[in-house]
Amino acid sequence: MAKICVIGTGYVGLVTGTCLSDMGNQVTCVDIDEDRIEQLNRGIMPIYEPGLEQLVKQNVEAQRLSFTTSYKEGLQDVEFAFIAVGTPSNDIGEADLRYVQLAANSIAKNMDHPTIIVNKSTVPVGTGDWVTEIIHDQNGGQTPEFTVVSNPEFLREGSAINDFMNPDRVVLGSTDQESANKVAGLYEALRSPIMITDLRTAEMIKYASNAFLATRISFINEIANICESLGADVREVARGMGMDKRIGPSFLDAGLGWGGSCFPKDVKALTYMATTRGAHPQLLQAVADINQNQRKRAVKKIEKALGTLRGKKIGVLGLSFKPNTDDIRYAPSLDIIRMLLEAGAVVQAFDPQAMEASKKEIPNLVLCQSPYDTAKGADALLLATEWNEFKSLNFSKIKEEMHGNVLLDGRNIWDPEDLRGLGFEYSGIGVP
Ligand SMILES: NC(=O)c1ccc[n+]([C@@H]2O[C@H](COP(=O)([O-])OP(=O)(O)OC[C@H]3O[C@@H](n4cnc5c(N)ncnc54)[C@H](O)[C@@H]3O)[C@@H](O)[C@H]2O)c1
Repeated sequence: MAKICVIGTGYVGLVTGTCLSDMGNQVTCVDIDEDRIEQLNRGIMPIYEPGLEQLVKQNVEAQRLSFTTSYKEGLQDVEFAFIAVGTPSNDIGEADLRYVQLAANSIAKNMDHPTIIVNKSTVPVGTGDWVTEIIHDQNGGQTPEFTVVSNPEFLREGSAINDFMNPDRVVLGSTDQESANKVAGLYEALRSPIMITDLRTAEMIKYASNAFLATRISFINEIANICESLGADVREVARGMGMDKRIGPSFLDAGLGWGGSCFPKDVKALTYMATTRGAHPQLLQAVADINQNQRKRAVKKIEKALGTLRGKKIGVLGLSFKPNTDDIRYAPSLDIIRMLLEAGAVVQAFDPQAMEASKKEIPNLVLCQSPYDTAKGADALLLATEWNEFKSLNFSKIKEEMHGNVLLDGRNIWDPEDLRGLGFEYSGIGVP
């Protein structure tokens, strides 16, 4: 059992802290957001993540997990301090490291014994060295002994606990083998491959992985668009490709493109890192452009089907950037809704978890109580996020509620033949 501090209680920090405590460690989570900590101390989750609330409750009751805004309290007697704060994009596409810098400063001010600092935030290559300098400089060289280990996180929102507990691999980067081995010890019980490398390489593995996954999605979306003009079915194309062991089936679902808190900012940050070092990341640029274009194509398809968007009522099913999360950061749905509104349409939407947050972003979005409510009076209905509950709707009822008959299945989850049989004007992405 180790004593651990986790800094940041967002999707990564809260899941990391909770899972490490569930594995028997003593964990204190620190956040600067007082409301968030107050809520966590009352058992209220700041995010929606399946299974998280119950796991937090169990570990708080077992007195292995606690929450505080005090770094001093959080860092007391710990062997490991994990940094899991946000690294959003700034205006020029660079990763904004202000939260990492703040966290490093606060660690330096409050650390009073040797500590291993484990960086879980996704940070530009070289940040581990920079954090070492910050902590070192803060106390004029009087800081207790410390090392920085990079430990990029690969969990997915919506299946975060399972991903944390069953990782395909654990990546650790450090200039100090002993520290890396100690962090590896925390993960041993998971029985997953552990790869130890240097700091910069570990940081790069995270960016390269996310960029590759985003590339697969943009690739299949480009193929989907080509399929549309040639009369082929991208769903079957992807299935046929995925059976090839060299390719594999994951991340080959054509749709409205990728969003969320990671791919968009990480692709941008990698592009920025490359460009500022004189490299020419042409592929990354194309991957991002295709993704953005996919959203515009969806709007154009609806416009073409309706003749005009002005004065039309569009229903949108799903707002979160993917199912099983309430995260709307860079969600395709929101971009599409903004474009529809700009073109003069009225937009009404339903999402099982992300309505309040979306309304804050787009105040003139009309919120609905159910998928059927969303269909009410709509000229067209767009499926933007493939929540399970949208997979088998009563389409006769949807048809009755709608004013028009246009359906755009932005995630290819519905059966075109069935829906056309019911009188809908159905289109999918790359589906003939
Ligand atoms: N969300 C994901 O699916 C995911 C997956 C893998 C990696 N990551 C990476 O992990 C990092 C965290 O992402 P997230 O989605 O959990 O972020 P998030 O925005 O959900 O949460 C960040 C938390 O950090 C807190 N915070 C900010 N500055 C702080 C400080 N100085 N001290 C203490 N707390 C502070 C914020 O209040 C917030 O609660 C990012 O670098 C991200 O790229 C995210």
